[in-house]
Amino acid sequence: MEIECLPVRMISKSSAETEQIGFKLGAFLRSPAGAKTVLLYGDLGTGKTTLIKGIASAFGIEKRDVGSASYVMVAEYETEPPFYHIDLYRLESHAAVDAAGIWEYIDTGGVAVIEWAERLSGETEKAVKVRISHVAENEREIVIEGIDNNGDD
Ligand SMILES: Nc1ncnc2c1ncn2[C@@H]1O[C@H](COP(=O)(O)OP(=O)(O)OP(=O)(O)O)[C@@H](O)[C@H]1O
Ligand SMILES: [Mg+2]
Repeated sequence: MEIECLPVRMISKSSAETEQIGFKLGAFLRSPAGAKTVLLYGDLGTGKTTLIKGIASAFGIEKRDVGSASYVMVAEYETEPPFYHIDLYRLESHAAVDAAGIWEYIDTGGVAVIEWAERLSGETEKAVKVRISHVAENEREIVIEGIDNNGDD
């Protein structure tokens, strides 16, 4: 199935705006046509977690309950569908990612949102890629792109 209307390029001028963009993406993820995985790319402190706070709020999760998952690696929320915030920052090799059991959370019926997705070793089924980059102190460029690895496009 194709994810339509993507890629999209946006400029966010505040963390609140980034959260709002995240909320809209979250609403899409909850819809039947929505992807199950979000792969996030962007340097330290660009706003990946900020965007995820917005995504999570579309699942009814309180923003304050979404923290830096760097220490937890996987934060699991019992929403419907289940929501997983995964942060691969500390996993420096593909082997470490595999050993950490990350794949148990991906493509298993829940929505998995993954920071430092470049560290992921394999392919996911249907994913949205989000690239965040620093433009100025409070300004970020956010590019959202849908991909379909089912091979039926
Ligand atoms: N337009 C913006 N969008 C997002 N964050 C912004 C924006 N402007 C300023 N910020 C600030 O940038 C920081 C982003 O931090 P955040 O933890 O979301 O980044 P991150 O990419 O998850 O970092 P890490 O790589 O450490 O996980 C916050 O302090 C936030 O307030
Ligand atoms: Mg983060």
